[in-house]
Amino acid sequence: MSQTQLTFKRVLVNRAIQGEGVRPSKSHFRTITVTEPVPELQDNEVFLKNLSFGHDTYIIYNFPEGETESRVRGYALSRVLDSKNPKLPKGSLIFAPSYWEEYTHLFEPFFIRQAFPVDQHKFYDKYKDRIPLATYNGILGMSGFTGWGSLEVSGGDLKPGQVIYIPSAAGTLGQLVGQLLKRKGLKVIGSAGSQAKIDYLTQELGFDFAFNYKEHQDNKKAILQEGLAKIGAPGGGLDIFYDLVGDETVDVALELLNPRGRVIAVGFLSNKLLEDPLYGIRQYVQILFKELTVVGHAVWEHFELLPRFFEEVVPLVAEGQIKYRENVLEQGTLEQVSDSYIDFIEGKYTGKVSVNLASTKEE
Ligand SMILES: NC(=O)c1ccc[n+]([C@@H]2O[C@H](COP(=O)([O-])OP(=O)(O)OC[C@H]3O[C@@H](n4cnc5c(N)ncnc54)[C@H](OP(=O)(O)O)[C@@H]3O)[C@@H](O)[C@H]2O)c1
Repeated sequence: MSQTQLTFKRVLVNRAIQGEGVRPSKSHFRTITVTEPVPELQDNEVFLKNLSFGHDTYIIYNFPEGETESRVRGYALSRVLDSKNPKLPKGSLIFAPSYWEEYTHLFEPFFIRQAFPVDQHKFYDKYKDRIPLATYNGILGMSGFTGWGSLEVSGGDLKPGQVIYIPSAAGTLGQLVGQLLKRKGLKVIGSAGSQAKIDYLTQELGFDFAFNYKEHQDNKKAILQEGLAKIGAPGGGLDIFYDLVGDETVDVALELLNPRGRVIAVGFLSNKLLEDPLYGIRQYVQILFKELTVVGHAVWEHFELLPRFFEEVVPLVAEGQIKYRENVLEQGTLEQVSDSYIDFIEGKYTGKVSVNLASTKEE
């Protein structure tokens, strides 16, 4: 018996990077139409219809160098059309490392392990009308889970009055982490790349102090010291540095951390292509002198915490107690997925960017 064929669209990329610092641009992508057989699934595999793509910086790390074209691995909210995986049943709505295409056969064990059903948590039905689908790409998806989980697992003994600094505070993780810590009574300092983002952080999210890092490239230490004085930091310096950038900001933070302070390492936005080498830290010695704790957080090691994340954070988001900005391109095309990705990594948006595909939209 012949297999059913499916015709659909897919994005291909070739990074064509010649030399350090050359970044992918819109011209590195092309959208093609393919006809392929509907897959016959093996154990644990799923076949997906992709509904909404959510951008994340590290999609870029998977782009091939040179002239080779490949599919783009990108996070998506997808409907499970067929399943041989009891954890991802047929008909469910899942968040998964999919591909930029309309239909995806997810078969790699490493990626299947990172997929999770979003419509099976305790509050999904209760808040369905208040939470748009795409929000499960962002503050209620992998990004939000990383932010919440990093505090649960790697936050240490969080106490009211402690001071934390979050660079890239207007990003998806920064927005959530800042607000979760304000709720615990910490003092929160943030930085971001425009005045509009700074206003958002201080006026809407309640950050205690925020600055535009692009205007303070050469005097980050001074502006942070100014902020610490302004908010009356009890220990004089920082208690926690929440690292999302991995650049020279780390050195500034190491200098400004109080004795027995903490670094939570979660992202390295400064290194968009995973260039070698990463920024070399100069103030490493502060870890010894001040007995600092430096702890990394990798979301994929903590999926067992997902039910708790949904239980705690979904009601806060649905009830408006946690605010967030996200960008949803409705009636989107695959071409818009790649175009908006380049705009996204250039910092043109505040918060998560999602593209809801018109071609696979469900009523
Ligand atoms: N450890 C894990 O398991 C894990 C899981 C998920 C995400 N992450 C990582 O966590 C980081 C933050 O994620 P996110 O989703 O919050 O980020 P996001 O929302 O994708 O943040 C994008 C924003 O980062 C800012 N940015 C870009 N380059 C920067 C730089 N060199 N210095 C400072 N800010 C810069 C830009 O805004 P401005 O206008 O402010 O520059 C941009 O709009 C990313 O690196 C992501 O890959 C890690």
